[in-house]
Amino acid sequence: MKLDEIRSKYLSFFKDRGHAVIPSASLVPENDPTTLFTGSGMQPLVPYLLGKEHPLGARITDSQKSFRAEDIEEVGDNRHTTFFEMLGNWSLGDYFKKEQLPWFFGFLTDEVGLDPKRLFVTVFIGDEKNDVPRDTESVAIWKELFAQKGIDAKDVVIGSEADGARLGMQAGLNPDGSPITGRIFYYEAKKNWWSRAGAPEKMPVGEIGGPDSEVFYDFGTEHNPRFGENCHPNCDCGRFLEIGNSVFMQYIKKEDGSFGLLPKQNVDFGGGLERIAAVSIGTDDVFRTDVFEDVIALLEEFSKKHYKDDRYTRSFRIIADHIRAAVFMIADGVRPGNSERSYILRRLIRRAFQHAAKLAVLDKDKADSMLVRSATMFMETYRAAYPELGTEEMYQTITGEIWKEEVQFAHTLDKGLKEFEKIAYDSNLITGEQAFVLFTTYGFPFEMTKEMAQERSIPVDEQAFKELMTKHQDLSRSGSEQKFKGGLADTAVETTRLHTAHHLLLKALQIVLGSHVKQRGSNITQERLRIDFSHGEKMTDEQKREVERIVNEKIQEGLPMTRSVLPKEEAEKLGAEHEFGAKYPDMVSVYSLGPNGASEEHPQFEKAFSIEFCGGPHVQNTRELAQSGVFKIQKEEAVASGIRRIKAVLTK
Ligand code: ALA
Repeated sequence: MKLDEIRSKYLSFFKDRGHAVIPSASLVPENDPTTLFTGSGMQPLVPYLLGKEHPLGARITDSQKSFRAEDIEEVGDNRHTTFFEMLGNWSLGDYFKKEQLPWFFGFLTDEVGLDPKRLFVTVFIGDEKNDVPRDTESVAIWKELFAQKGIDAKDVVIGSEADGARLGMQAGLNPDGSPITGRIFYYEAKKNWWSRAGAPEKMPVGEIGGPDSEVFYDFGTEHNPRFGENCHPNCDCGRFLEIGNSVFMQYIKKEDGSFGLLPKQNVDFGGGLERIAAVSIGTDDVFRTDVFEDVIALLEEFSKKHYKDDRYTRSFRIIADHIRAAVFMIADGVRPGNSERSYILRRLIRRAFQHAAKLAVLDKDKADSMLVRSATMFMETYRAAYPELGTEEMYQTITGEIWKEEVQFAHTLDKGLKEFEKIAYDSNLITGEQAFVLFTTYGFPFEMTKEMAQERSIPVDEQAFKELMTKHQDLSRSGSEQKFKGGLADTAVETTRLHTAHHLLLKALQIVLGSHVKQRGSNITQERLRIDFSHGEKMTDEQKREVERIVNEKIQEGLPMTRSVLPKEEAEKLGAEHEFGAKYPDMVSVYSLGPNGASEEHPQFEKAFSIEFCGGPHVQNTRELAQSGVFKIQKEEAVASGIRRIKAVLTK
């Protein structure tokens, strides 16, 4: 079956069962500071799962565009894509397990026509500590469903992935001593609990989640012992593919760390459209589904290389995945650049470019660019389901942005190549430091350094390069990085808010006391922030009140916070604040607070209230600070000659 066919069958199936069909929300989440992109169907529906009434009722269904940046590096195998569509159906306090499981099973077996013998399911083992029972209820339902198809479904208690490798599929022994194969498997929270943050202990206060039940398709391939002694549904050897997940969204994390019940029991179902399409045609390769066909054929034709050729399969997949994701991102308003979302889009296009170079299909002309032509094909393929991709204006925007980025990257590579030649000339080793400078200062990808060095038989000190990269990332580690992973930042909410308040405070001090005020030290805990700054005299009460007033005004104004990664010199030129005497790497992370402006290159810095070198983490909008209360200076004192210290809080 084609993707379009499965999508519409799914939506009508649930429409027939009383669900309102809603359109996909944007890939750019609205009012969700926890992730950069919509990464699951439930994200746009969180308020309703929390109990708010949905205008279209208690049964909702959709196919949601999703993007998971954390999977970028995984793309290249047969099952990972960064962009995908998640089929969803929701019960907002309406039906529960005994409707959900039969519906999804019925959809797979009766509508898509999958052989029930190939389906295996998992359920939650239970969690005594958090008082969540073992999901025997779902097991009873699954047993009945399989029985209706003439299958005697045995349950197996597994636990962790390691337990799975030890125990395998076995559900006991027949009287003759031969093993019985299990069909329903109990796993621990790491596998069968869903929340945006992951397992129960990772959920911050106020986050919702619950046990889930996943369905796997069995390709019946040989187990690969590299992945563990025995095979089991959650084994990564490739025999099983997860195709859908019914989450029983019942719990909310309370202030004291325990779980409370949500006002209503919800169902949050998510099914991988591409994966269901793949299994419907009996392939374990999502890139063999109809939506990728044309693009792969095009690349094969022009590269004169075969998708099936192991040396190139990965490049075909990366180009196809990344360009499809780029098309949808650009359509949702993202543009290539250096800050958060824009940076991810830039990375996608640049990685696709590198792999196009591997296939030797790069061209100097927009009309001949394989990336632009691939994008055009995706727009064609998807325009029926996503009419916004079908307009002339969108065509111009998408192809224009991709081409512009190609040209810019080619230019960057050129400069990097020249620098590489200088370094490599007469050299018998590319040091970690040299590879690091090529990457951070010239934007020259490490993979390219490695390849070019290999061509000249010069070794590269990869270990040293990696160590430098780790140090570099540690320096700019931030809440945003957590967001790249697609989950909730692990950082305490209060600390994050105070961190943002710290930026507002520094700026307010400069406004009230003068531009000589520079940060000389800082320390933030969950309770308070502390800043040391250069200033000669004790602050008057009026000055303190005025600083407080400005900070609170900016909180009320709801200024957006934007993170950008850019060369140090460029950040300095923009006047970004940095701590006196501190050492910064060549590429720095900069946070700017303030309204977006008109500058094309750096819209976030135009009319920004404050710009600082900073690793974060920060809130997305200053309005979030108001939830902790108003900003108040608690203490102002001298710490050294010409240096003052302020301790301040957000308090109700
Ligand atoms: N929210 C669930 C998931 O993303 C369905 O897997």
